[in-house]
This record gives sequence, structure tokens and C-alpha cells, in this order.
Amino acid sequence: MSQISISINGRKYQADEGETVLQVAQREDIYIPALCYHCDLLPHESCRLCMVEIEGEGKLKASCTLKAFDGLRVLTDSELVNRVLAVNLELLFAQHEGKCEACARKDSCKLRQAVIKFSNKEKFVADKYSDRKKDKLKYQFGPSIMFDPAKCINCENCATMCAKQTKGGFIRPRESKYNFEVSPSLANDHDCIYCGQCIVHCPTGALSEVEDYPEVQKLLKDSTKKVVFQFAPAIRSSIGELFGLPPGEIATGKIFSSLKRIGAYKVFDTSFGADVTIMEESEELINKIVSGENEVMFSSCCPAWVKYLEFYEKGFVKYLTSVRSPHIILGGLIKTHWAKHNNINPKDIVVVSIMPCTAKKFEAKRRELRVNGFNPVDIVITNREFAKLLKEANINLADVEPSESNDDIMGSFTGAGEIFGASGGVLEAAIRTAYFKTTGKSLEHFEFKAIHELNGIKELELKVNNQKLRFAAVSGIENVKIVLDKLKSDPTYYSCVEVMACPGGCVAGGGQPLPIDDEIRKMRSKGLYKADRENRYRESHANPDVVELYKGFFESDRMRHRICHTKFAAKNKGVIKRIK
Ligand code: SF4
Ligand code: SF4
Ligand code: SF4
Ligand code: FES
Repeated sequence: MSQISISINGRKYQADEGETVLQVAQREDIYIPALCYHCDLLPHESCRLCMVEIEGEGKLKASCTLKAFDGLRVLTDSELVNRVLAVNLELLFAQHEGKCEACARKDSCKLRQAVIKFSNKEKFVADKYSDRKKDKLKYQFGPSIMFDPAKCINCENCATMCAKQTKGGFIRPRESKYNFEVSPSLANDHDCIYCGQCIVHCPTGALSEVEDYPEVQKLLKDSTKKVVFQFAPAIRSSIGELFGLPPGEIATGKIFSSLKRIGAYKVFDTSFGADVTIMEESEELINKIVSGENEVMFSSCCPAWVKYLEFYEKGFVKYLTSVRSPHIILGGLIKTHWAKHNNINPKDIVVVSIMPCTAKKFEAKRRELRVNGFNPVDIVITNREFAKLLKEANINLADVEPSESNDDIMGSFTGAGEIFGASGGVLEAAIRTAYFKTTGKSLEHFEFKAIHELNGIKELELKVNNQKLRFAAVSGIENVKIVLDKLKSDPTYYSCVEVMACPGGCVAGGGQPLPIDDEIRKMRSKGLYKADRENRYRESHANPDVVELYKGFFESDRMRHRICHTKFAAKNKGVIKRIK
């Protein structure tokens, strides 16, 4: 790619041909309040806040679509830019109710950031129209997503993303009295899969998770309850960002310590549950192949993907593995095996899962996952909620001394479990164990670099015992649609497909720290692969506590089946609530 030179605010910068001015500015840390721009979406010039002045011409252009060319000179902070920005910001606020202090997204709202940066420059009152939308009702999609139209600036990012994540889009633009407004579809053939990707792409607080952390705060004060936390693999490489650490920095030890400090009765790493998932999934895959049943097997760890099949592609549900997701398996084990081992009444245990995910809130409530009449997991909070829990307890995770899990029966976890958070990680972990189970030896190389990349569809071919097998790791429902089309004509095309609804996998899930872009996805994934390399156990079947589990508690097939397996089935539209 040929290099060109442009000037921003009088300084020269190198740019690649084809790059936009906004991309160059963002790389060089020059602030432009680009609300509606996201690297996952085509620039669509809806917010009009990213305007720059072409030097010497007195003309304004949207920097998100302005291609850099050699000799281009722009200003981001001129008198003209600031004047127009004031008008455009005010127009956006005419559609937005303000009330930032009470907003769930106040720390990640691009609109608020723009106001804070801008308010010193012009006489600008953000809340001038604050009561204009006061009668708007909120929507709640299932137990996962809140949509507050009073905070929406109609940029349509969510609608564009939702159209990729569903069929035809559940949240979509609709003609209203004065304008177009986004709103959820009430039609029976459109539903939310709770992936939270609309939150990731919303520049304001109009979309957020349903917050459950206040309930956790209450339970931590209840002396009759034992609050047991587990945290997902993907959390460790991203939580630090909310405390000033770089993306990808592994914080496993700090998570253990900080949860103990807020009063956790016990803390588990969900990677242990991931190891059990792999034990079961690899067995299912091997049985399928050995019995000559060549049709594809889909992973089922991602509840948004499962919901997509159950609602939009019912004919494919039969290909889902029956194995439950890691936190559900671990929750089931906590309330049975661990409770018995520690002589605790399961009724007194509250299992809280810290997840990168909004769809896990929905998954935890599925009745078919109950074990002995209990939900394996009682409450799911997102990674962002976890940070709030710590901040409101005055704990700065960055300063906390790391510690380790100290459980005697479910405390160890492998690198194979830790990579579940990256797209391709579940597949790689399953192959490590399936290979061992079929050949009796470990793989020479544990890592398959081809599935470590960020691409939405990653393929892998392996020869096991003279049989050539084809695998795929897919992330983002847009890519899933391509793979399903292939499988419609030949369901044996792949032996196994790992699917994550969020582009890039759980490292970029709907409950993760914001912002999220490709660079951040890469850094968080890299962190997980590094954690894997540094773990003394890299295969799920080598986890000593898992070995003991299968020798003891799981000797009973009935118990193993009850905790680890389920049946997925076609589903109707979920509940949409209207809230004042
Ligand atoms: S959670 Fe996913 S499916 Fe639901 S509205 Fe948001 S993007 Fe659409
Ligand atoms: S909800 Fe957010 S992403 Fe969707 S249109 Fe409104 S401001 Fe834009
Ligand atoms: S990819 Fe991960 S974060 Fe996203 S919906 Fe699926 S499980 Fe949740
Ligand atoms: S970021 Fe360019 S118009 Fe919104």
C-alpha cells in the first residue's frame, strides 16, 4: 500500500492510501467526536459531529468518509468546526434526554464524552431539551437488554448491527411522527437473540444491559446466603481496561482477590467448567465420527447463537451438541458436588456468574437447565457490571494483589479452558482432547494459528486415524448465515463448527468493556492465548480436578448427564416489556 502525507492542525502525518481522515486522526490520538463511526459498520454520516475544515477552502467535510490524499490539509479545532459542532451537538441533544448521572452507560457514552470535551469551547447547554422525551417508555428485551428511546439519537448503528445478527433485524428504523426512530419489532417472526451487539455499537446510553449487580450487592449483605462467584475465561483479558490497564493484560489473580474482598464466600474460574464441557463435547464428537454419523456438530456455549437457531433456523437445532455451556455446568456442580463436599445446603448458595455476555442472563433463566429443581446459576452480571460492583466498593482492581483459587476439588483450570473466550478457542480445546482420546497421545503442537486470527470464518482440516476431518470456527451471525447456507446443501461438509454470535467471540461480547474495535479484539484474544501458554495444563483431560471428578462424582452417568447435558428445541418469540 502506498504511503501519503496529510496535515492535521498544521502537523504532518503519514497515511495509507484509502484511509479516511478519521482513521488517521484516531491512530494519532487526535480527538474527533465521531459518534456514529464504528469499524464494523460502513460509515454513514448520521451524527455530523466528525466534521473537519479543509484548510484554505473554508469547507467542512465529514472525516469518517473523507479519504486522505497526498497534500490534504485539515483542521479539527477551528472556529468554524467548533461553531458547527455546537449546532450539531444541540440537534443531537434535541433528541436526547440527558440525565447522564443516572445513566448505566455514563462512562462509555460517546455523546457525553463529546459534551465534556466541547463544553469549554462554546456556550452549550446539553440538557436544554431534557423533558422533551420524558414520556417515552423503555423496552426490556427478555432478561438481557434495556432500550431507552429517550436517550436515542437515531444514528441507526444498532439497527445495522442487528440486521447482521438476526434475520431482517429485530431492532430497526421505523417512520415516526417527525422522523425515523429505531424500535423493536413486535412481529412474531422477529426476535432478539440477546447478543448485546447493539450495545457495543450504540454511541449513547440508549442501549445497555439489564443491570443485576444491585441485587448482588444486597445478597452480599445477607448473612443467610453464601454468594459464590464464577468468572468467565474472557473476563481476565479485558476487565483491567476499566481500571486503566491495557487490553489483553491478564488479571485472573486480581479477580480472585477482589472478589474475596467484596465478600465472596467462594470464587471459581469458569475455565474449570470449560474443561468439563470439553470432556463431554469431545466424547460426543468422537462417538459421532466413529459411528459414521457424519453430519455436523455445532458448539452450544454461546446462548445467542443457540437462540438464533431455536428461533430463526429451527431445522438446524438438531445439530447442536447436547452439552451445556461452561458456567451452567460449573453452577450445577457447585450446587451438588461442591455443596455436598462442604456440607452446605444448596438452598443457601447463590451462584453469580461474571460473564462477557448479555445473552447469558437469558441462558441462566432457561427452565430446561435446572438441576434437582435449582437453577445452576442464579444471577449473571456482565463484565461492566462487575467493574461497577468493585468501584462502588472502592476497590481498584489495578492495585489489588493477585491470589489464586484455593478450592480443593474444583480449583484447577487449564489453558484449554482459558482460550474459550477467543473465537476458535473452543474448537482448539476440543481438538486437543479429542486427538488425545482417539490416538492416546497429545498433539505435537497445541496451537492452530489458522484459527487464532480475527476472520469471521476460519477453517481447519485435520487427519485423525486416516480420516480427513473439516472444522470451522465462526463468529458474528452474519458469517454464520454463510456457513449455514453451505450446510443446507451438505450437512456433512464440516465435522464440527464452533459458533460465537459476537464478532471476534466473547472477548468482544455484549457485556465487555467499551469501546470495542478490531485492535482491542486482537489484544484481548492474544492475552488469552498467552495465559494458555503459561498454564501448566493445556489439555482439559489433564486437569487434575477434572480427572478426580470423573473418577468420583461423575462415575454416576445419571448425575453426569443431568449436570452436563440438555435438549435444545425450537422457541417462540421472547418477552418484550414496556417500562416507565
Ligand atoms: S441484542 Fe442482538 S438481537 Fe437483540 S436487539 Fe441487540 S443486536 Fe439485535
Ligand atoms: S439506540 Fe443507540 S445505536 Fe441505536 S439509533 Fe439510538 S443512539 Fe443509535
Ligand atoms: S459470543 Fe460470547 S459474549 Fe457473545 S453472545 Fe456468545 S457467549 Fe455471549
Ligand atoms: S462519525 Fe462521521 S458523521 Fe458520525
